[in-house]
Order: sequence, then C-alpha cells, then structure tokens
Amino acid sequence: MTVLPYKDQNKGKKEQVANMFDNISPRYDLLNHLLSLGIDVLWRKKAIRLLRKRQPRPDHILDVATGTGDFALEALSLKPRKITGIDISAGMLEVGRQKMLKRGLADKIEMKQADSENLPFEDNMFDAVIVAFGVRNFEDLKKGLKEMNRVMKPGAAVAILEFSRPRSFPFQQIYNFYFQQVLPRVGRLISKDSSAYTYLPESVQAFPDGRDFLKILEETGYKNTAWKPLTFGISAIYLASK
Ligand SMILES: C[S@@+](CC[C@H](N)C(=O)[O-])C[C@H]1O[C@@H](n2cnc3c(N)ncnc32)[C@H](O)[C@@H]1O
Repeated sequence: MTVLPYKDQNKGKKEQVANMFDNISPRYDLLNHLLSLGIDVLWRKKAIRLLRKRQPRPDHILDVATGTGDFALEALSLKPRKITGIDISAGMLEVGRQKMLKRGLADKIEMKQADSENLPFEDNMFDAVIVAFGVRNFEDLKKGLKEMNRVMKPGAAVAILEFSRPRSFPFQQIYNFYFQQVLPRVGRLISKDSSAYTYLPESVQAFPDGRDFLKILEETGYKNTAWKPLTFGISAIYLASK
C-alpha cells in the first residue's frame, strides 16, 4: 500500500511529496539535526566512508533526492571533480543553492530540479550515485532504482542511506515511542506542516529494509549488494555496484 503524506488529497505520491518538502524546506535542516540529535550527520559520513572503499576517487557523483544538499556536501571528502544533486522539490533545492553559494561551492555542486524516476542524463555517466533518505519517498521505487543504475558507469557504485526498523528489545520499544509519539508532535510544531512528520514514521514502517531491500536492488540490476545497519537498526546503508 502506498503511504501518502496528505491523505485528504487526490494527488499522486510524487506531487504530494514535492509539496510536502516545499512546505518544510525552510525548517528541514533544523528539524533533521534536532530530531535525530545530530546523528544524521554521522550516518551520512559513515555512508561516504563505506562508498570510498568501493570507489576511492569518483570523478562525477550524482546525489539523488539531494534536498538541501547535505549528502552532497559530505561526498566532497571523496574529492570529486563535480557533484550533481537532483530533487523534485524546488523549495528544498533553493535552500540548498543558497547553502552552496554561501560556502563558495556553487560551481562544484550543481543543484538541478529533476525526477529520480526519469533522470535527464545519458546512460553510463556517473562514477558513483548516492541517495540519503530519498528512496523511501519515490512513487515507483523500482523505476527510480533502475534509472539510477542506467546513469551509472559499468563498475560504478551506489550508496543508499535510509531509515530501517530496530527489531530488538528495548530499542524497538523506545524507537516506536519516539518515532510515533514525540517526533510527529515536535515536527508539526516546528515545521507547521500537519502531516510531514506523521508521514515519516508511517513511510518507514511500510518500506522494505535489510535483506528485503537488497533483493529489490538485485531485481533492479545491481551486483555485489551489501548492507550495514546503523544505531541499533534505526538506519541502514546499502551498497551495490553496476
Ligand atoms: C528526506 S529528504 C532527503 C534530503 C537529503 N538527501 C538529505 O540527506 O537530507 C528527501 C528528498 O527526496 C526528494 N524526492 C522525493 N521523491 C523524489 C523523486 N522522485 N525525485 C527526486 N527527488 C525526490 C524530496 O523532494 C526530498 O527533498
């Protein structure tokens, strides 16, 4: 079943997701770091460290669902010539562009409006593809993953960071309480969007994780798949090659 941000609307998931991120874009970075107690930063760093083992010096990196560009910024440590970030939300991209301008990185990190399920790039273009907290929001997950695969060079690597679900006692119970009771309330208060932080736990609950996600990666054309759970299984890093 597709989990939608706004249940009272007739629009499809893609349009609703874009609207939701447009709405929360001014507060997205603040909420990310606040609600994760800053751990999201460490998760992105770890994902890039693991990617480096497969792809030590990627020349051109594609950051899918780049949002405000935080994963692209972490990927700078791989010393690429260029990073292209794409996202469907104009609002998130605008916050990201301002961030890159302020840091003098506008030439290095390009922020472009595009849909992961229909990427405006030729086949075999990128040395590495990265996605943080993006794939769960795709309207058609397999289509998005196949598109990413299409634009990767043969042998290129992908690193996907996404929420998963802790399953051991007592982390599962603490996590459920926090994710279902605390996070939606704080999120609503600060973002002023009534649904975004209810959609977050609901979409995580419905999303395949661990081996189930690796299976989907294999079905969509990836090889050498591996995953690493993070922080008691709250998140996971998935790695694969073309
Ligand atoms: C939770 S944010 C993650 C942003 C960033 N990667 C980070 O680590 O903070 C998810 C992003 O996915 C984008 N997104 C969702 N579906 C997309 C699609 N089909 N194509 C491109 N971006 C998409 C949203 O607009 C949003 O900016």
